[in-house]
Amino acid sequence: MFDRQNGIVMGLALVSVFGGDKMSGLIAGHPMTDRYAVIGNPIEQSKSPLIHTAFAQVTGQDMDYARVLGPLGEFARTVDAFRATGGRGMNVTAPFKLDAFAYATDLAPSAQMAGAVNALKFEGNKVYAENFDGVGLVRDVVHNLAFPLQGKRVLILGAGGATRGALLPMLAQGPAEVLIVNRTVAKAEELAALAHQHQSGLLPVRGVAYADVGAQSFDVVFNATSASLTGELPPLPARVFAPGCLAYELAYGKGLTPFLKLAQQAGVTRLADGVGMLAEQAAEAFAWWRGVRPDTQAVIAQLTVPLN
Ligand code: ATR
Repeated sequence: MFDRQNGIVMGLALVSVFGGDKMSGLIAGHPMTDRYAVIGNPIEQSKSPLIHTAFAQVTGQDMDYARVLGPLGEFARTVDAFRATGGRGMNVTAPFKLDAFAYATDLAPSAQMAGAVNALKFEGNKVYAENFDGVGLVRDVVHNLAFPLQGKRVLILGAGGATRGALLPMLAQGPAEVLIVNRTVAKAEELAALAHQHQSGLLPVRGVAYADVGAQSFDVVFNATSASLTGELPPLPARVFAPGCLAYELAYGKGLTPFLKLAQQAGVTRLADGVGMLAEQAAEAFAWWRGVRPDTQAVIAQLTVPLN
């Protein structure tokens, strides 16, 4: 296991990474280095070049990973140009996740359920599309944080894109219950209904308003709202945190957010942010592209911001 806050790393140390704007060409008849990139607007903040370059180095893959600033309204043209110069795959970040959904020729179930795409793979005329955010989150919780979700009572705050992507991978872990709570209750109810449509059988998932969370407590509480980006706190009663609870903030690099502070004040000692989710979704994309899954612990250690 890996202790994020104390920075204990088991695995390979990171060697220095290059910036990612390097272009590769055909040198004396040698095949072109495979090219990948992250596209977004803005894009400077993206950690994907650092992560994928580190993954390429530790797995010995000959590939190049760049940042692409996509002009607004010109997603398709920009991606076409990238493919024309040997682009093999892309990560997609805001505001293009829906454009990528429309651009794809083959949508994986994860992308269909999330209604958004965060990774593309180009093969001939085919554009394969995935959304690895949900599986990345679950892998971080179950594997890195050693917190199995099977049989657990799960509370998810928010019913936006992040929750949409996380729902099916989470349900696949066999939790006892998943309660989605949202300011706009109709969105929480719609998501619960959507999960029922995608999976047969009796699903323990419901959507409610904050006022209707009741007196129940939960084994794990995920903050999948965008509230922490603006320093806000969802209207959550502190009683929701059961003894031994994990409080998980999906945003990363923000330190002790109002949500994590509330959890800490309620006595929760297992606090996490989304740095592991970020690394794990990247590892999923890398494995999808290259057929080899990199170890994530060194990257997580490098990107971890202390929660205080
Ligand atoms: P993302 O793709 O990051 O999930 P989103 O789709 O815009 O972003 O969804 C943002 C989520 O955060 C929504 O569930 C939103 O609640 P509403 O649907 O009621 O708008 C939630 N959210 C944002 N700010 C919030 C706040 N201050 N308190 C509670 N929920 C908040």
